[in-house]
Amino acid sequence: MRILFLGDIVGRTGRDAVIAALPGLRRDLRLDLVVVNGENASHGFGLSLSIAQDLFAAGTDVITLGNHAWDRKDLVGQIGTEPRIIRPANYPPGTPGQGSVVVGLVDGRKALVVNVMGRQFMDALDDPFRAVTDILGRHRLGVTVHAVVVDIHAEASSEKWAMGHVLDGRASLVVGTHTHTPTADHRILPGGTAYQTDAGMCGDYDSVIGMGKDAAIARFLRRMPGERLQPAEGEASLAGMMVETDDATGLARRMAPLRMGGHLAPTMPDF
Ligand SMILES: [Fe+2]
Ligand SMILES: [Fe+2]
Repeated sequence: MRILFLGDIVGRTGRDAVIAALPGLRRDLRLDLVVVNGENASHGFGLSLSIAQDLFAAGTDVITLGNHAWDRKDLVGQIGTEPRIIRPANYPPGTPGQGSVVVGLVDGRKALVVNVMGRQFMDALDDPFRAVTDILGRHRLGVTVHAVVVDIHAEASSEKWAMGHVLDGRASLVVGTHTHTPTADHRILPGGTAYQTDAGMCGDYDSVIGMGKDAAIARFLRRMPGERLQPAEGEASLAGMMVETDDATGLARRMAPLRMGGHLAPTMPDF
């Protein structure tokens, strides 16, 4: 299975770039599954259902979220109507929506996508390791699902590395999100799981993690609440990675970063 994962989409410039590029990427890279993190798609804070629908129409299969999941309050009441939008699985029981979804591809193959959130330097949620292990316990990679993608939305690199190792051999891809900065450590772990500490963001990198520089810098310089943060609006870079898996095992065969447009040096998968 050929899988594309794109990191946090930030604001209009990020989502416009994703929507413009996805149909061509799906065709040229012969993608079977596209997963994007949408927690900042709505003006930097949260996700609206109409933006989600635009992302699905452009070729997204599943949208994951994170600590900004509920910034758009309307999504709280709507997430239950759209199983392809998932929020971190380790929110407390009773939280609207689901933390995982099994999607069927047009050719009948199935993929499980899971979203969990880390706890280091973040809100105190339930144990993400236990949450993901419980979900994976209900599926068998290579038997009941052909691929498993886990988005670990977390601040700490250490927590993401640990998640990669815990799931090595049980997931096709474990990828971090939330820091909005792509890491250069993409690799296939010894057990066959593709791993990258952070996918980076789809947004304007001439910014402070996607938000306008002046207001963001002023907060650091003055340590006072200032003007509201607004997404930067320059040309966005797409950032993420592509993985090709073996359907018989669900494990990764090849992995390569994808970055295009905007301020980042471009790189495209060559397989
Ligand atoms: Fe984010
Ligand atoms: Fe986040």
